[in-house]
Amino acid sequence: MTDKWSPSSWREKPVLQSPHYPDLDALRETESQLAEFPPLVFAGEVRRLKSELAEVAHGNAFLLQGGDCAESFAEHNANNIRDFFRVLLQMAVVLTFAGSCPVVKVGRIAGQFAKPRSAPTETQGDEELPSYFGDIINSIRFDRDGRQPDPMRMLMAYRQAAATLNLLRAFAQGGYANLEHVHQWTLGFIEDSPAGEKYDELAGRISEALGFMRACGISSDATPKLRSTDFFTSHEALLLGYEQALTRIDSTSGEWYDTSGHFLWIGERTRQLENAHVEFARGIKNPIGVKIGERMGEDELIRLIDILNPADEAGRLTLITRFGAGHIAKHLPRLVRAVQREGRTVVWSCDPMHGNTVKAANGYKTRPFDQILSELEQFMAIHEAEGTHAGGVHFEMTGQNVTECLGGQHQLGEADLSSRYHTHCDPRLNADQALELAFQIADKLKARRVTPPPPAMPAAGFGV
Ligand code: PEP
Ligand code: CO
Repeated sequence: MTDKWSPSSWREKPVLQSPHYPDLDALRETESQLAEFPPLVFAGEVRRLKSELAEVAHGNAFLLQGGDCAESFAEHNANNIRDFFRVLLQMAVVLTFAGSCPVVKVGRIAGQFAKPRSAPTETQGDEELPSYFGDIINSIRFDRDGRQPDPMRMLMAYRQAAATLNLLRAFAQGGYANLEHVHQWTLGFIEDSPAGEKYDELAGRISEALGFMRACGISSDATPKLRSTDFFTSHEALLLGYEQALTRIDSTSGEWYDTSGHFLWIGERTRQLENAHVEFARGIKNPIGVKIGERMGEDELIRLIDILNPADEAGRLTLITRFGAGHIAKHLPRLVRAVQREGRTVVWSCDPMHGNTVKAANGYKTRPFDQILSELEQFMAIHEAEGTHAGGVHFEMTGQNVTECLGGQHQLGEADLSSRYHTHCDPRLNADQALELAFQIADKLKARRVTPPPPAMPAAGFGV
């Protein structure tokens, strides 16, 4: 790997999962236009996220990252964004309160438009067309026009990301996330479910604690931390032309930031050491994630860390493992040990979704809740055994009442999948399933946590 980096140095390397645009002049024109557009996020915010992730790396906080597998243009509306934000807040509250652990909240949102695919083409009947690569590239509609990569879609994605971020900032800072509204975040359809009831009980205890604090003179009017929250955005940095166009120099530090989102990750299919995606990511200052499956070797992982985090900065690098419930026990310990042996500082996060995808008998791509939970439980147990911090989770989830993953407390079966199967790509947890997982993780966090003793009583008497 050469040392010289620029926002375009990735273009000298092999690029996998890259769309074939039919009109390269139009592509260049669109990328130049994007490069003039305002940044979506700011360097100061990105640095704040990095320092929060450093706390996770040191074992003092927990990362909650989640959202759609793929955002879509068709489902862009305020209700979807609000409902997703509500579930994520509920999960964060459960983890913070029941798990006694500060939570860093990161959405797979406001930029999660590009999808890597296992096969470059899809065949239906006699027709073979390019696969759907996400709304930023082509259309999910199966016809020749729809599947043609179209650069104008990058502009639409940018504008949608901007509008989504605008609403998220308002929700996070404008009063909606005030802890005193903890009861109102519950979505109608989960009110009567077991997870909804457990949440209601917990919200009652929080309200009581807030009432006590108010009586002691600590209220949300006077305490910004109670009435607002930090919320960050993330997506897979797959479409590098788009990412390059939004990569800017921060005038205060003189450093490069990819301003398309706070946190960017490299997918399991594009993390080769010599290729374009790693080259691009190494030069931007944002916190970076890398998805890691069972093919990752120990030496390869250390070399990847050398490239992406040469100064061993806490918070810079999150390793998001996604082995599957049947494989994590074989692969996570060897990788954790290699990282420990080399003394590297990383955040370990668990994506229990991508290694647990199965095809139901009726053809639906789905994920069994029990497998998801099992991978999470093993993730936490392995870190406990290795003496490392199980730092976070990465979910594909939605605030909508979909039927895409099997099981959970409503015992969704294969026959239920067709009723509300709306995803544009992979199956997502619905709000109920996501909240239930948050309770399960909180229990584990709590069991592990040693509560610090209260400050000692001052000795009676005078003088020193
Ligand atoms: C994803 O997160 O949507 C994804 C494609 O994951 P992975 O790269 O781990 O397969
Ligand atoms: Co996915």
